[in-house]
Amino acid sequence: MYQKYYSEFLKAPSGAPSAMLHMACHSHHYWPDVTLDAVQQYWRDSAALADDKWGPIFEGKIPAWQNAVARTLNLPDPDRIAIAPNTHELVYRLLSAFDPARPLRILTTDGEFYSFARQLQRLEEEPNVEVTRIAKEPYASLAERFEQELQRGDFQLAYASMVFFDSGVVFPQLLDIAARKPKQTEFVIDGYHGFFARPIDLGAVADEVFFTAGSYKYLGAGEGLCFMSIPANCTLRPRNTGWFAELEELENRADRVGFADNWLRFAGATMDYSPLYKGLAVFELFEREGITVESIHNHVLAAQRRFLHTMDAADHPLLNRERLIHFDLEQGHGHFFTFDCGTASAAEQLQRELRSRGVLSDRRQQLLRLGFALYHSADESYQRVFD
Ligand SMILES: Cc1ncc(COP(=O)(O)O)c(C=O)c1O
Repeated sequence: MYQKYYSEFLKAPSGAPSAMLHMACHSHHYWPDVTLDAVQQYWRDSAALADDKWGPIFEGKIPAWQNAVARTLNLPDPDRIAIAPNTHELVYRLLSAFDPARPLRILTTDGEFYSFARQLQRLEEEPNVEVTRIAKEPYASLAERFEQELQRGDFQLAYASMVFFDSGVVFPQLLDIAARKPKQTEFVIDGYHGFFARPIDLGAVADEVFFTAGSYKYLGAGEGLCFMSIPANCTLRPRNTGWFAELEELENRADRVGFADNWLRFAGATMDYSPLYKGLAVFELFEREGITVESIHNHVLAAQRRFLHTMDAADHPLLNRERLIHFDLEQGHGHFFTFDCGTASAAEQLQRELRSRGVLSDRRQQLLRLGFALYHSADESYQRVFD
């Protein structure tokens, strides 16, 4: 019933409805049709207004986007939502606020996405940076082990995923842990695999933590627009700072670089705002049609139950409960399933077989990931995954 919103992406190159079942949606989510007009509108506004487009973008479009994100996550202050083309830029800007002449101790997990993991590895080569990585498994004790270290160590920064990118497992009790963080520790939640997939209420921690995500995945608005909500009364002064940060009345202009008391503290520089138009078009579509994160999540939960039902009857050598990485499928899982195929070649072979049966998946070494989306039909049995 939701497929009508995605007719362009659900077309084969010939224009006929695609025969493929897209199960790589956790990687690249399809874009609703409304995004096509949104991109063209960006072009038309640029042609009509040229340099004068920046006023409507900064005074109208960006606040509208911030309001929509704030409503989605129950964030109290939309003006504290910084935007940039990717999360790396935002997180690196945050990292740049720490004094390179002083020790920087970072607590994280061994399950973070490459964007942060690689950056951290590089920073670790510096003498002042020390990283503690908590093993994500076993998931049953992750919350306890992570919090113990957080409270025991003297960390300047803690960073953890809300939903792990390689498995879809939800970090148990992460928001409660963040709420109890030591005052001196900045806490970042990488919410990319949670945002617009699972209902999230950040109300209780929004004034204390950073939260990052973007529009490429579950919002379905494409690459190029990510955000980071920043805590209340943030006084960090990023060394990596762009000229957009000057767009506001600045504090202490006289003797040093000033920073605004809002998202512009973490602003960069010129970027393409067509993803902003696309994102707003998707938010407007969903609002108009009464589609909420809850309804998306319920659609996906029902799809996952149908998939598991079919899987349990199929007796597949690789796609089965033993190889499915999980902790709490009903309460705490993202919108994709990951199967550990043992070796990269077994996963590659399975991915090829799935493609030949019209199923698109994605793979990271020996891990094969199968995702679920609003644009999967409500009567899809997923039988062709196992045939
Ligand atoms: C958990 C997680 N964080 C962040 C990202 C995106 O990182 P970036 O915006 O820096 O490319 C992804 C993308 O797949 C992800 O899975």
